[in-house]
Amino acid sequence: MTDNASNTPKANGQGQAMWGGRFSAKPAELMQAINVSIGFDKRLWAQDLAGSRAHARMLMNQGVISSHDGEEILEGLARVEDELLSGTFPFRDEYEDIHMNIEARLRELIGPTAGRLHTARSRNDQVAVDFRLWVRDACDRTVGQLEALQKALLAQAEAYADALMPGFTHLQPAQPVTFGHHLMAYVEMFGRDAGRFRDARVRMNECPLGAAALAGSPFPIDRHQTATALGFDRPTANSLDSVSSRDFALEALSAASITATHLSRLAEEIVLWTTPMFGFIKLTDAFTTGSSIMPQKKNPDAAELVRAKVGRILGSLTTLTVVMKGLPLAYSKDMQEDKVPTFEAFDALELSLLAMAGMIADLTPNTQNMAKAAGAGFSTATDLADWLVRTLNMPFRDAHHVTGSAVKTAEGLGVDLADLSLEQFQAIEPQITNAVYAVLTPAASAASRMSYGGTAPAQVRAQIARWKELLA
Ligand code: ARG
Repeated sequence: MTDNASNTPKANGQGQAMWGGRFSAKPAELMQAINVSIGFDKRLWAQDLAGSRAHARMLMNQGVISSHDGEEILEGLARVEDELLSGTFPFRDEYEDIHMNIEARLRELIGPTAGRLHTARSRNDQVAVDFRLWVRDACDRTVGQLEALQKALLAQAEAYADALMPGFTHLQPAQPVTFGHHLMAYVEMFGRDAGRFRDARVRMNECPLGAAALAGSPFPIDRHQTATALGFDRPTANSLDSVSSRDFALEALSAASITATHLSRLAEEIVLWTTPMFGFIKLTDAFTTGSSIMPQKKNPDAAELVRAKVGRILGSLTTLTVVMKGLPLAYSKDMQEDKVPTFEAFDALELSLLAMAGMIADLTPNTQNMAKAAGAGFSTATDLADWLVRTLNMPFRDAHHVTGSAVKTAEGLGVDLADLSLEQFQAIEPQITNAVYAVLTPAASAASRMSYGGTAPAQVRAQIARWKELLA
């Protein structure tokens, strides 16, 4: 065995332990480096204070601690809060996480009475309640941001309820729709997204505080009291589950991932629509950037970044799912890794929602270009087929065939369907009359689609009115 292969720690050329590698840190320092979470869980300070206050009041009410001690603790927590709000609170790595940082500071401010706050509590239920409060707030904020985005979409949809544009399938022109109708499709998607956050909130709204380390507490605590004080519907019903579960965060991240997926689709459409080839919309300088080399460029960076954020958000869901997978009950330190992905995902989502609402309000459609494109690609071919069915009582399959021949003729001549003469139509199907021309314009096509949820401007307006009421 060579010296190098030996696994006994020994001095290398620089006089360091071999296993020190590129870290000069001692084991104690490495332990602190991997263990410390204050750098990111400081974001839970407001929730930690809320949980501590509710816990202290309950302990007082139940006679577990004296009112004198309880009042002292509450006053101390108020001073801690002042420091946190004013930015003078000393965050210290040696106290590992937000829970111990706050408790250590409380002790410095009020003395040994601070130690009574942790009666009938563990950091396991403490972090569970803090994180749940944070995720609940994040869900509430997201619902608000989604509604703001929906309102921005509604305003544009109302202004452009009649503006024709091509509807696509396979990104090929399919049938004319209106710009308002297209935007309202996203109002529906974001409405369901908000619903998912609301649903998740209902399920997560149970309070884990009082589960203590894992088995519950021998003190006469009142978990219903703390649950109510913190705005929960009830306490969680199993102490092991209370400290072991993070599915509330997984559910919120799932909802976030679906929302981000919807955002990325709208972002992609903005990217497409702003290209000169489409020329459907314009964004102002507020949401675009220039190129450092190509003076003509106006790049939709904000839309591109929204399109990309889904990677980070879905990545967070994957991260937390893998962290939780296979964890035995109850608490394991693995679960400390729940916070960074969750914070990151909601930061990214919030920014995306705000930027998207901004872009929607900012955009100006080029209704001329859109209307022109709405008529391209024989987009009223289905209307011709439908006319043959309705007026000549043709079976749809035959009508489809006749229409195909008309499209072929028009294509050969390099004209639109509406440009074919009556003789040309009649050469294909003798029963066709002049009345056919009324259905061949994109406007007539869109206006005819009066089925519930269809693209007819009257239907679009009805949906706008419904949503306005829902969001009022
Ligand atoms: N910082 C920890 C976390 O975020 C708090 C819980 C620590 N509990 C423990 N038993 N070490 O998960």
